[in-house]
Amino acid sequence: MEKAQLTFNGMNLEMPIIEGTEGEKAIDISKLRQETNMITLDVGYQNTGSCMSSITFIDGDNGILRYRGIPIDELAEKASFSEVAYLLIYGNLPNKEEQQLFSSRLTQNSMIHEEMLRFFDGFPPTAHPMAILGTMVNSMSVYYTDYYTEDFQAGTFDLMAASLISRIRTIAAYSYKHSIGEPHVYPKRDLKYASNFLYMMFDSPVNPYVPDPDIERALSTLLILHADHEQNCSTSTVRLVGSSMANLYASICAGICALWGPLHGGANQKVIEMLEGIKQDNITIQQCISSAKDKGSKFRLFGFGHRVYKNYDPRAKILKEYCEKIFKKYNYQDPLINIAMELEEAALKDEFFIERKLYPNVDFYSGILYRMIGIPTDMFTVMFAIGRLPGMIAQWKEMHDAVPLKIGRPRQIYTGSNLRHYLPMDERK
Ligand code: SDX
Repeated sequence: MEKAQLTFNGMNLEMPIIEGTEGEKAIDISKLRQETNMITLDVGYQNTGSCMSSITFIDGDNGILRYRGIPIDELAEKASFSEVAYLLIYGNLPNKEEQQLFSSRLTQNSMIHEEMLRFFDGFPPTAHPMAILGTMVNSMSVYYTDYYTEDFQAGTFDLMAASLISRIRTIAAYSYKHSIGEPHVYPKRDLKYASNFLYMMFDSPVNPYVPDPDIERALSTLLILHADHEQNCSTSTVRLVGSSMANLYASICAGICALWGPLHGGANQKVIEMLEGIKQDNITIQQCISSAKDKGSKFRLFGFGHRVYKNYDPRAKILKEYCEKIFKKYNYQDPLINIAMELEEAALKDEFFIERKLYPNVDFYSGILYRMIGIPTDMFTVMFAIGRLPGMIAQWKEMHDAVPLKIGRPRQIYTGSNLRHYLPMDERK
């Protein structure tokens, strides 16, 4: 095994080098504090691995993304979302029996407890659907106690996972119906995952939902492209919360909350708002590029840049091509895609973006496709959460499968006051 040497103050510490199956290397510092009484400091964890994982591989320099070794473009083109969910959670594509059992579990768990419907009455119609989603997912631990337990080994994981994956789309669709003052629509047992979601979203007593295989495939593709992305901010949150033995619902709720941030999953909503603002205020592309480079400006080019990808995000590439293909087929016009493409073209030619290796990420084109499907802008991050859920669950399971389970507890370097004592009020300045 290769080793790294740390020499400090006359001390010399050897640390093992770990190599992954794709040749990535890490210095294992597990014994650093014990041997040196020192820790490492890495704000934002830019150089720090939290775990070893066999779920998703990203090569950021070459724009490669694979789920359990299978390239994302193959899965986006050929797989169903439930197959990808199974692949991420259990490690392989399901065979016929496994797919039938998983699908039946999704169908059997597609309704939420009738009493949970009352929760929606407590939310104003203007409530952001991510706030509703987090609340309702956490509340599932109150209603699905028959297969909720802190004891991960209790064999209830499979049902909790299917319950969450199925019910998250029901909760999302109900939150939309609540926002437009329409009665919620119950799921159907003969519809596939994406179709059932669209049915619950867009069917109504006066306007029946008209299935469209292309639109259903577009949604499945969006969900597949979002299904996992190794140790991103929200999935790392799921792992950290789960490491305390909090139940799966609570862990996923925490992940949903982390995903909401505009620097992360909330960026897809911000991209559309940015593009709409550019169109509405007649801002030129060059003005956008200049503002994006101006540290003093509040303007940020949402949908651009990535902590890991220093090349084109393969998901953005697939989504851009998908938009062009389906827009042409339907002769669908959306001025925002033209603005997005002009922005991308200008940014990719600009030294500031080239030097910092800033490319479009998954959020840059996803919103344009959600718009075509008819999803309201404030639900875009909810759609991200629905897609990402299998990955969050897979990462939570992988952490619990690892023995022993170590609670996540980062250290710090203290920079506050040295020892001082309590002062009575009349002695304080
Ligand atoms: C997701 O991690 C994942 O895998 C996430 C995700 C997933 O699937 O889970 O891929 C989903 O979250 C995608 C990212 C969505 N966020 C956005 O689109 C928001 C806009 N992007 C940036 O905020 C930023 O690029 C981040 C947050 C995505 C990454 O931040 P980093 O890695 O901390 O990079 P940084 O902010 O330190 O930027 C490095 C430089 C800085 O300039 P300098 O200080 O070197 O001069 O690049 C600049 C930044 O100012 N920069 C941008 C920019 N992104 C980075 N400048 C203008 N516009 C941008 N979008």
